[in-house]
Amino acid sequence: MSASAEMPYFIKPSVPLSATEKEAAYAQAHAAIQATLGEEEDELLKMVTINSLLKTFLPYFYWVGFYLVRGERELVVGPYQGTLGCLTIQFGRGVCGAVAASGQTKIVADTHALQQGKEHIACDPNSRSEIVLPVRRRADGSLLGVFDVDSTLVGSFDGVDQRWLEKILATF
Ligand code: SME
Repeated sequence: MSASAEMPYFIKPSVPLSATEKEAAYAQAHAAIQATLGEEEDELLKMVTINSLLKTFLPYFYWVGFYLVRGERELVVGPYQGTLGCLTIQFGRGVCGAVAASGQTKIVADTHALQQGKEHIACDPNSRSEIVLPVRRRADGSLLGVFDVDSTLVGSFDGVDQRWLEKILATF
């Protein structure tokens, strides 16, 4: 099963922000995340808090969540907010799998322009652009997983998102 237009009550179209509005929204979200987490060390609590507060402050965050490393070459869906996510993704497949394999952030302006099933895995056809970042643990540099944000609009993500999300994900 995957999300579709048959789930109309959960579909909330993204609202774009100007560059200035983005900076302000991220600054607020970041402050709220820090105030909530304090010195918290539990990874699950960090993930759920980051998902909730980013989705609260950023109106173009349609799907936000983590895919976690399981075994050598597999991601499994972790904490997220949004429509039903794909349960497992192999390293190298889709955007998340490519980021897990390379360790490099990817910004995709138009997911529909990618080769479906290979370069992009469409868990929900309403997702039109995305940013995916690797998430590493500060303690030992090991890969916790990837952080995936999707928007229903084309071209929602840029260097501003990358910079703020890297700062927020540095908590791990
Ligand atoms: N963005 C993905 C799949 C995960 S969903 O968007 C929640 C990809 O192609 O990696």
